[in-house]
Formats: sequence, C-alpha cells, structure tokens
Amino acid sequence: MAILELTEACKTYRIVQRQDGISGALKNLFVPRYRDIQAVKRISFAIEAGEMVGFIGPNGAGKSTTIKLLTGVLVPTSGRVQVLGLSPFKDRKRYVGRIGVVFGQRTQLWWDLPVSDTFDLLRKIYGVPPQTYRRNLELFDDILGLADFRHQLARQLSLGQRMRADIAAALLHDPELVFLDEPTIGLDIVAKDKIRGFMQHINAERGVTMLLTSHDMQDMERTCQRVIVIDKGALLYDGSVSGLASLSGSRRSLIVDFNVHTRCEPISGTELIQENALRARFSFDRGSMQVHELVSQVAKKYDIADMTIEEPSIESVVKTIFSAQQARL
Ligand SMILES: Nc1ncnc2c1ncn2[C@@H]1O[C@H](COP(=O)(O)OP(=O)(O)OP(=O)(O)O)[C@@H](O)[C@H]1O
Ligand SMILES: [Mg+2]
Repeated sequence: MAILELTEACKTYRIVQRQDGISGALKNLFVPRYRDIQAVKRISFAIEAGEMVGFIGPNGAGKSTTIKLLTGVLVPTSGRVQVLGLSPFKDRKRYVGRIGVVFGQRTQLWWDLPVSDTFDLLRKIYGVPPQTYRRNLELFDDILGLADFRHQLARQLSLGQRMRADIAAALLHDPELVFLDEPTIGLDIVAKDKIRGFMQHINAERGVTMLLTSHDMQDMERTCQRVIVIDKGALLYDGSVSGLASLSGSRRSLIVDFNVHTRCEPISGTELIQENALRARFSFDRGSMQVHELVSQVAKKYDIADMTIEEPSIESVVKTIFSAQQARL
C-alpha cells in the first residue's frame, strides 16, 4: 500500500526581478517586477511502505523543492501531496512526529551545544520513551561511531561527523518514514560508505521507508532498488536502478595514479584514453571486463599510488535518458 503519494504536484516560486542602479532600486520597491520559476512541474509518484527510493537529478532539478513539499515545509502551487494519510502542510504538527528529515546542506543540530545535548532536547520534544532512546543511542553509536564525538560542540565537528550526528538526530524518535536530502554531500568514500551502510540497516532491519536525494550514482547503486530521476522540474525516469544503469551505458573509466613516472602499455580489452607521467586513464566496458581483473592486472604491472573507477555523472545519465525519450517521440 502506498504511504506516500504525489499527484500532479507543481511548485512555482515567484521572485522579484531585480533592476540595477538607484532608479532600479526604487522601481523594485514601488513597482516590483516578478518572475516565476517552475521548480516542480506536475510530478506524480507513489512510494510503498518499506521501500528505499533514490531521487536524483542535476543541480536545480527540483529535488529539494519536492522534499520540502513532502515534508510540509512548502505548500504545492497545485496538485496533491498525501503522506501517511496526512497532508504534510495542513497536518504538520501530527505529521512531524512520524517522519525524520535530514538536509545535508544545513544542520539541524544546535550549533553551540554538544551533540548529546541536542539529542536530549529532541528526546524531550518528541517524548521518546527512555528505553527507545537508550536502544537507539546504542545502535547509532555502534554503526555510526558517534561515541567519539558525542560530547563535542556541533560547530566543532568535521563534515562527516556532523552528517552522522544529523542522521542520528533525525532517527531518535523512530520515524516510519525518513527523507534525506543529500546525506552524503562533500563526504569522502569512507564516510559515504558508513552512511550508506547505516541507511541500509535502518531500512532492512526496521522497515523504515526512505527517500534520499543525491547527485551520486553510486549512492543509488549501493543503497536503492528503485530510483526516480528528475530534470528541470519534470520526472524523467521511475524504475529499477539496474534499468537506469543500462540506460547510462556500460563504459567506465579506471584512473590510475602512479608513485613514479610511468609509461603505460596497452591492456587488452581496454583503451588508454589519457596518459601523463603520473596518471593514466583506461576506458573499458563493464559488461565484458571484470573490474577486479583489470585492477589486479594494473596493480601487478605498475607501482600504484591510487586507483579510482569513474562512474558516469548524473548529468550524462540525464542527457542519455532525455535523448532516448526524444528519439522515441
Ligand atoms: N526559495 C526559492 N526561491 C526562488 N527560487 C527557488 C527557491 N528554491 C529553489 N529555487 C529554484 O527552484 C529550482 C529548483 O531548485 P531545488 O533547490 O529544488 O533544486 P535541487 O534539485 O535540489 O538542486 P541541487 O542539486 O542544486 O540541490 C532552481 O531553479 C532554484 O533556483
Ligand atoms: Mg537540493
């Protein structure tokens, strides 16, 4: 059964069109000119209880606006938003106790308080029973490693620590549904993996429904079964992650950084597309070449400092889906 339904939802922002100079500033005051930005255009989708859904799109696609509509921060210009049988905006008071929200770009922790004090305040605000609180703290300490910095002020935390604390704060009251807007933004691979593992655990073990936005295709591939892609406010794709991966093509790049100046030899099944003394880039087909095979071949031959697999960017995936749709029309 769908617990979240967005039907033909639209959100248009009206902004004042600024005019330059002193006379412009006066005009802005007395006869302001407005411009409408259609951030979300007739988007419809439904999410079932227990699903973990990725929501991706390039900058300015309308992801955060959609999350704000779903969390009741914004009212839709038209269309309908129904979550957990409630209208997020109208039933805000009843609604917020049942959901968790993380905005990766902005912390919800009290900046000048130790993280543990924020947790304690949230416990009181949401009326979390002591047993639930203790059980959750133990689990969060365990998987997110909060114990190392729980007594530090929020403003002293590193980005990765802050994000982990924010995610824990959003889950303290056992919400049924969690919205995460860019929970891995700016984090290194280790921190990203920790957060991905935690989200998967909460979804699998507790059946918490999750909708998370990201720019990172790997976030989607590692955590979600289903993914929704939007661009310029409109829905482009709603389906399986593997379906999206096949649309994005199977070519990948392996970037190799060397410890010493190196001249590479060709490796069969790959194409050497870029080479300078300390770095080489091999392009290969993921369908016909196993990544671990290629990595071990390269590692055997050369003195390696680092290796990275480059996935296609969300921008290139969106472009591919868009041109496939145009071709069908
Ligand atoms: N408060 C606002 N007032 C006016 N326009 C806004 C406002 N918030 C967002 N927009 C505009 O709406 C569009 C969608 O923005 P939104 O923040 O939803 O995109 P996004 O997909 O979250 O992008 P990003 O990946 O950069 O976070 C953009 O064109 C943006 O400039
Ligand atoms: Mg955003």
